[in-house]
Amino acid sequence: MSGTKISPSILSADFAQLGREITAIEAAGCDWVHVDVMDGHYVPNITIGPDVCAAIRPHIKTVMDVHLMIEPVDPYLAAFAKAGADHISVHPEAGPHLDRTLQVIRDLGCKAGVALNPSTPETVLEYVLDRLDLIIVMSVNPGFGGQSFLPSQLDKIGRIKTMIEGRDILIEVDGGITTTTASLVTAAGADVLVAGSAVYGPGGQDMSVYQANIAALRKAGDAGRG
Ligand code: DX5
Ligand code: ZN
Repeated sequence: MSGTKISPSILSADFAQLGREITAIEAAGCDWVHVDVMDGHYVPNITIGPDVCAAIRPHIKTVMDVHLMIEPVDPYLAAFAKAGADHISVHPEAGPHLDRTLQVIRDLGCKAGVALNPSTPETVLEYVLDRLDLIIVMSVNPGFGGQSFLPSQLDKIGRIKTMIEGRDILIEVDGGITTTTASLVTAAGADVLVAGSAVYGPGGQDMSVYQANIAALRKAGDAGRG
């Protein structure tokens, strides 16, 4: 079994120096770079759009893991693909036809993901499994970094793990990940950990701080996987 992947959320980085903050986490050993896109409508916060994604793209040597918290989502998929997204994950509530949305994402040349809010049941995935590369289990309500982990999501991760058995689909857990919760979610079946505050802290720090934070999360995640 390969090791736990770490996808730091740049939501907690210093926005005034995003390129440098990305270079630092990649030098520090992250696997993916998680980009949280929020519209102030689907979620109560506004972050970045396709132009900023395009601007940071040249700084990303790993994987641009784009998490769209926008509604409607369909009109913007092409713009994020053009901006260089490798993964595009959408919330099922953000469009009328999830199956079609996932087809469009793959047709645009990206890997397709679905992100589930804490109150969204995993049954929404049942008939779109063939179209999925990634499932994000939100362990906080989307909108902000630095919130507390919701333990209610551990059962959901386990149920999804069973659902996708034998398929090439990764489970990513997003929200409230710390060295304590990392092992809980990987024990339940998570492959990838999104971490904003646990990697960046207040942001703008030295690469060695990020390196220690990423290593600690990976170690805790690997311990949970046994
Ligand atoms: C929440 C975002 C998360 C968030 C994680 O809506 O999707 O990616 O930034 O931040 P932490 O790790 O601080 O909970
Ligand atoms: Zn996210």
